[in-house]
Amino acid sequence: MRLYFALIAVLLISSGAAQSADISKPNNGGTVMKHELTPLPYAYNALEPYISEEIIKLHHDKHQAAYVAGLNKAEEELEKARVAGDYAVISYWERQLAFNGSGDLLHTIFFKNMAPNAGGEPNGDLLDQIKKDFGSFEAFKKQFSSSAATVEGSGWAALVWQPEYEKLYITQILNHQNNELAGAQPILVLDVWEHAYYLQYQNRRADWIENWWNVVNWSDVSKNLSAARSYVPEKVSVSM
Ligand SMILES: [Fe+2]
Repeated sequence: MRLYFALIAVLLISSGAAQSADISKPNNGGTVMKHELTPLPYAYNALEPYISEEIIKLHHDKHQAAYVAGLNKAEEELEKARVAGDYAVISYWERQLAFNGSGDLLHTIFFKNMAPNAGGEPNGDLLDQIKKDFGSFEAFKKQFSSSAATVEGSGWAALVWQPEYEKLYITQILNHQNNELAGAQPILVLDVWEHAYYLQYQNRRADWIENWWNVVNWSDVSKNLSAARSYVPEKVSVSM
């Protein structure tokens, strides 16, 4: 009888072990994250007259929302591929993930980068770093505006912090996901897709860029730089 109970106990333990090892089952597709649209940090009309209520409403509620939906779809399709063990179209869905995920993330940074009664110039650590890396605030502003003006087709101008180089750079991001500097964290981004300005500025992208400086929330950009600085990569030391 004692042997019988011992055998039952072993069976129970082994069945429990099998349940807790579900992650190794071939039909386990892993985590599917359900992404939600980040709320706007101000009212739709808060950035007028520089950005119209209509643009902000469409840009956030329709365009960013579409990237969130596309991101969720990519998450689901990638999970399906893992469950089925069928990786024939993995390249397509990973591109969708990069495009829609980057689209969502950049728009969240972009909307937070702006505020009513903002503009002017940065100060403190951010201004010091800008002067160090670009020479002056004016030189930085000229390079950033030129970068935004010369993006071919749809894309962004971005001020990024690169932690390995401990330096700020301005980069052009094409679409949402191409031409990015590896490992760099965007702290200030400007959307130059036509949906960002066409209803108000038509084809005058230069006017959009010039007016956008009036709504830049430098306090948010400073916070982004501080957060980006908190990641300090381990330096490779040379030993002889
Ligand atoms: Fe956009």
